[in-house]
Amino acid sequence: MSENPATPATDEAGRTKADDAPEADGLEAGAQAPAAPASPAPQEAPRLGATAASAAVPRRGGPMFPDGTGPAADPAGSHHERRIRSFQPRRSRVSPSQADALRRLWPKWGRDIDGLSRIDLAEFFDGRPVVLEIGFGMGEATAQMAAADPDTGILACDVHTPGQGNLLGLAERNGLSNIRVANGDAIILLREMLAPGSLAGLRVFFPDPWPKKRHHKRRLIQPEFVSLASTRLAPGALVHCATDWEPYAEQMLEVLSAEPTLENLHPSYAPRPDFRPLTRFEGQGLDKGHVVHDLMFRRRP
Ligand SMILES: C[S@@+](CC[C@H](N)C(=O)[O-])C[C@H]1O[C@@H](n2cnc3c(N)ncnc32)[C@H](O)[C@@H]1O
Repeated sequence: MSENPATPATDEAGRTKADDAPEADGLEAGAQAPAAPASPAPQEAPRLGATAASAAVPRRGGPMFPDGTGPAADPAGSHHERRIRSFQPRRSRVSPSQADALRRLWPKWGRDIDGLSRIDLAEFFDGRPVVLEIGFGMGEATAQMAAADPDTGILACDVHTPGQGNLLGLAERNGLSNIRVANGDAIILLREMLAPGSLAGLRVFFPDPWPKKRHHKRRLIQPEFVSLASTRLAPGALVHCATDWEPYAEQMLEVLSAEPTLENLHPSYAPRPDFRPLTRFEGQGLDKGHVVHDLMFRRRP
């Protein structure tokens, strides 16, 4: 998850950094992720179906998946550099089980956002309608929503390597075949890799609030983003956002309402829908006494 660069244990929005807590025997992910452990942790029995590549030990200081079997550290590279990012690149810990899930499942269910080619959603999702979720974190809520609606494909996008491994592991353990993971910046994904009108929905749950005024420009929900995202939506597609940060909720309502191709399904904020599970960041916000707002808009024909 992105974090406010200047803040240590909690940010202005009262977030804790639970997701960043080092995990025992974890690997570090990020631009220059160091090595995987030389041998698997004792509780990690070798899995059936593991490839020779999955047993490879990355060079210390080199990329975590040098053989290309896992997510790239900076998939879009400098050719699609965005000056203002809504996430904070960082080093974070990847547990052995997350690394194992990435090595085995990434080649089939993962896609780097390199900005170089279109994703054929029909092929990637076996013909299912596809909802894009931006910023799934550790992916628990994503997996629950995918399980509740197996006929809808979820393209889950984040830059957070431990979360990518966690979600792929959850999908496998729960027998979910409708989740795919995109690694990188959602803006490049939308702009360069998804066809106009190709999405059946968009979810943005608890995006980084960037509470400091000088960081507001980093917030994802901005007019330019919403207008780009809307071009990728099919008529009738649902845009569902949620936040526990009141000033950001107001910004979302204003920006989404001003987008002429979207219409609000409610007079203002939406009542919390029972199909949206509690997310990890939502739980942290509720613990701090924050009020959660959902917003539901629809792409006009
Ligand atoms: C505050 S976390 C919320 C995670 C999860 N939705 C939850 O509620 O627990 C926001 C997530 O959005 C991701 N994110 C922010 N900007 C992004 C972008 N432009 N593209 C992809 N992921 C992004 C961050 O990496 C982070 O994991």
